Amino acid sequence: MVYQFGLIGHPVSQSKSPIIHNYFLKNMGFNGQYNLYDVLESQLSKKVIELRENNIDGFNVTVPYKEKIIPLLDGLDEKAEKLQSVNTVKREKEKLIGYNTDGVGYLESLRQAYPSFIKHTSKKNILLLGAGGAARGIYYTLQEFRPARLDIANRTVNRAYDICDGYQNSSVYSLSEVEGCLSKYDLIIQTTNIGMEPDDKKQIISLKYLSSATIVSDIVYKPKLTQFLNEAKQRKANLLFGDTMLWYQAAKSFEIWTNHSVDGLEPFEFEKGVI
Ligand code: ATR
Repeated sequence: MVYQFGLIGHPVSQSKSPIIHNYFLKNMGFNGQYNLYDVLESQLSKKVIELRENNIDGFNVTVPYKEKIIPLLDGLDEKAEKLQSVNTVKREKEKLIGYNTDGVGYLESLRQAYPSFIKHTSKKNILLLGAGGAARGIYYTLQEFRPARLDIANRTVNRAYDICDGYQNSSVYSLSEVEGCLSKYDLIIQTTNIGMEPDDKKQIISLKYLSSATIVSDIVYKPKLTQFLNEAKQRKANLLFGDTMLWYQAAKSFEIWTNHSVDGLEPFEFEKGVI
């Protein structure tokens, strides 16, 4: 069997997904390839029809199509349905089914780096910065562990209320409100795309009141040491880099497509171009 995988989005040329998936294919002893499909919105539907006709086994979906892909699919798994966001599509017989591995990818990266944190989540206070699609995926995955607090701070507070609707251990803050109470959090997760642009010196919030006992995490993976993590490092906090989330969400996609776990493979440092 020769697997056919790929990534749909716009733009996609900077994506690390081909490196990771080709590494999985090679190290699992499978034949196959992972292609990049840079698609304009007007061409999205045509591209999905083409991929169906070519019997693609599976593909990833990235910005800006994680929601827009949904009407073009035949079904969604429970998590993708709840999130209304798809980052992984699998061909199951003649049907294209959507999944979302972003949240579990984040969780796994946290578990690998800080194993005891996940074991004691019910005692932990967690803060998400941002209320976009990425925050939503992480929020719902962490919520399943019933943390003591799972708060959200966002520039537009109404978007944060939309996410945590109904969970009694969640509060919503504006970005400026939350700056003064950072020390109460065991984990702070930066989920916006601030820091992704080269020379982006903007900080989503000041970390002046950060405790050194806190784990500070940024889902931006390029640069690896974002401004946000750099400031957290200077304040001697514990860090969690974004590239491991990318690795583990890719691992989950690969497992969905092939029914094979890549658990034995060690995440590599993309920046060093190790493979
Ligand atoms: P994604 O689906 O990739 O998470 P998104 O839905 O566009 O992207 O969400 C982007 C997040 O980054 C949001 O939380 C957004 O805040 P708003 O909801 O107020 O728009 C946040 N964001 C983007 N630019 C920002 C900025 N300059 N300052 C603060 N927050 C910003």
